[in-house]
Amino acid sequence: MSGYEEINGCLHVDGVSLKEIAQEHSTPTYVYSASVIKNQYDALKGAMERALPADRQPKLCFACKSNSNIAILGYLRSLGSSLEIVSEGELKRGLKAGFDANQIVSTGVGKLDSEIAACLTAGIHQFNVESIPELENINKIAKELGKIATVVFRLNPNVSGGGHHKTSTGRKRDKFGISEDSLYKAYQLASNMNNIEPLGMSMHIGSQVFTVESFKAAFEKIPAIVGKLRDQGHKVTRLDIGGGFPIIYKDEKLLDLDNYAEWVRDIILPLDTEIIMEPGRYLVGNAGVLLTKVAYVKETSERKFLVVDSAMNDLIRPTLYEAYHDIEAVENRNAPKTIYDVVGPICETGDTFSTDRELTEMKRGDLTIIKSAGAYGYCMASNYNTRGLPPEILVHEGKAHLINPRQTVEEILDKEVIPDFIKA
Ligand SMILES: Cc1ncc(COP(=O)(O)O)c(C=O)c1O
Repeated sequence: MSGYEEINGCLHVDGVSLKEIAQEHSTPTYVYSASVIKNQYDALKGAMERALPADRQPKLCFACKSNSNIAILGYLRSLGSSLEIVSEGELKRGLKAGFDANQIVSTGVGKLDSEIAACLTAGIHQFNVESIPELENINKIAKELGKIATVVFRLNPNVSGGGHHKTSTGRKRDKFGISEDSLYKAYQLASNMNNIEPLGMSMHIGSQVFTVESFKAAFEKIPAIVGKLRDQGHKVTRLDIGGGFPIIYKDEKLLDLDNYAEWVRDIILPLDTEIIMEPGRYLVGNAGVLLTKVAYVKETSERKFLVVDSAMNDLIRPTLYEAYHDIEAVENRNAPKTIYDVVGPICETGDTFSTDRELTEMKRGDLTIIKSAGAYGYCMASNYNTRGLPPEILVHEGKAHLINPRQTVEEILDKEVIPDFIKA
């Protein structure tokens, strides 16, 4: 049994009924399918294996930010993945999940001193550097620690990719990466620094990139730059070509991975470097759902609302990016359909999962799933409205594993302190 399927009228995940999960763990709850994660990993790896020779396979560095639960990280590690991180916290997660430090690459536009020091002390594979001030800071910290930092420079290729303007990262106006001119300057500076070893470049043009042409347009900038760097006497042995592979939220036409892999073969492979990739959403997005319960069916003169017990604090994507997520009933799946707005209980009109959505008729207490919530779901959740974070469950071969228990309100309140000047 694999993924999400209906068995005897009830949705199951990897053989476990979502109704049973709700009974045992209540709602809202994040549920992930291990088989979907594996299938996605195998699909990406398979496309690269078909296109590239065995001894030139890319290092697939899972973007921890998309789902940072250590069980998910550990599972991806067991499948062969490496890791991309953006904070000291993610470094600690990666190490706790069993990754070797040399499987970890550190990215991000504002690496903090403590994070740089922790990465150097651990001995990570590389820093993807995004500015000259950051390069200088890494050199300074590496000197203090008596380390050599291996760096690549993130090029801003001025290529627009990404399904939403807030997830497009490769345009000139975006805060990410450095221009081609600055890259040459940075490389030159780096080669004169005692505690830096510059080894190549990286790029990441955005998330939910649907057109292979966007990747191709960005890739096509690389050979000339590598050639020029080599002509200037620099060593270029690593190219990190980022993530951004899309998943299905509605009815999107997916990127042709074989086509993508062929561009890697035609444009990147001849440059004779180590190849690194940073897939996030693609590996985990479709594996996860947010399981929620109908708290009320509310009808006004204008609309019919399904008020569910999950909210924008649990899954912020619809509010933040106007993101579409499919919603399905867990049971009574053949009931007549009706039009609902699906909303959470939070005091914001933006706390809306969908508007004018045709769904099977539901009543108070019915279970629904908000689909494709495995990436940028739980890891972006907050305590807004003093709502505890939902639990996370990983289902593997017919068994549901609690990988993160529900946060209680007491756990939130216990951390807060009323100072003495406030009289009782
Ligand atoms: C540098 C970098 N690499 C990889 C990713 C992963 O992107 P995706 O989840 O779209 O694959 C991101 C996402 O923000 C990123 O910023």
